[in-house]
Amino acid sequence: MRKFLIAGNWKMNLNASDGADLANDVVSFVGKQTSVNVCICPPFTSMEAVAKSVEGSNVLLGAQNMHPEASGAYTGEISAVMLRHLFCSHVILGHSERREYFKESDAFINEKVKTALNSNLKPILCVGETLEQRESGQTSEIVRTQIQGGLSGILGSQADGLVIAYEPVWAIGTGKTATPEMAQEVHAEIRSLLGSQINEEVANRTRILYGGSMKAENAMELLAQEDIDGGLIGGASLKGNSFNAIIEAAIELSA
Ligand code: PGA
Repeated sequence: MRKFLIAGNWKMNLNASDGADLANDVVSFVGKQTSVNVCICPPFTSMEAVAKSVEGSNVLLGAQNMHPEASGAYTGEISAVMLRHLFCSHVILGHSERREYFKESDAFINEKVKTALNSNLKPILCVGETLEQRESGQTSEIVRTQIQGGLSGILGSQADGLVIAYEPVWAIGTGKTATPEMAQEVHAEIRSLLGSQINEEVANRTRILYGGSMKAENAMELLAQEDIDGGLIGGASLKGNSFNAIIEAAIELSA
C-alpha cells in the first residue's frame, strides 16, 4: 500500500514569520497522525523558520528547486547539500513554471533528479501537458518524453523515495481541475512508464501525486482514484484551513 503524500508548494509567497505561523498551524493539525505524509515546500528565505516549526513533528520539509552541483560559482542557486543541512527531505524538480519561465530542459532536470537521489533528498518530479498539447492529443507523448528524459539513467536501486507529480499545466492556478477520470488515466500511464523504464517494483511503490487546483472540495474524489497517491498543492496550501482540509480527506481515505 502506498501512503498518501500531501505536499504544499508555497511558490513565491509568504515571508519567514507568516510561513512559520502557517507551518505551526499544519503541525498542530497533523499532530501525531502518521497515516498520511505531509510536506511543506516554502521559499528558501522561509526555510529555516519553517524548519524550526516542523522540527520534531510529523510534517516534512521540502524545497521548490535546487541546482545539480554541490557548490561553486552558480550565483543565486542552492545545492542539495545546503538543503540537507536544513533537514529538507523533499525537493520539487521540473515544475512547469521552471520549465516555462526558466527554460529548464528535461536533461537539466535529469541532472537534478540524480543529484537529489544521490544526496538522500526525495525528488518530486513534475510532468504535465499544456492546454494546447492536450487539445491536440499530445498528452501521452509529452508526459512520456518528460518521464523518460527526467529519469534517464536512473536504476531501480537508485529510485528509492522518488515521487512523481502529474500537473496538467492548464489546471495550475486556474481553478480548472482535471476530472478524476482524466487524472487517473494519465497516472496509470505514468505508472506503466515507470515499469518499462525502471522496473515493476519501482512502478508499484512510487507515489504519483496530482497537482492543479486541488482543493478541499475536489481532493476526496481525486485521491480516491487508484493511481493517485497524494497531491501537490499550490494556492490551497497557503491557508491552514484549506490545506488541512485536504490532509483530512487523505486521512479519511486511509482509514
Ligand atoms: P495550484 O498549483 O494548486 O495553485 O493549481 C499547483 C502547483 O503548481 O504545484
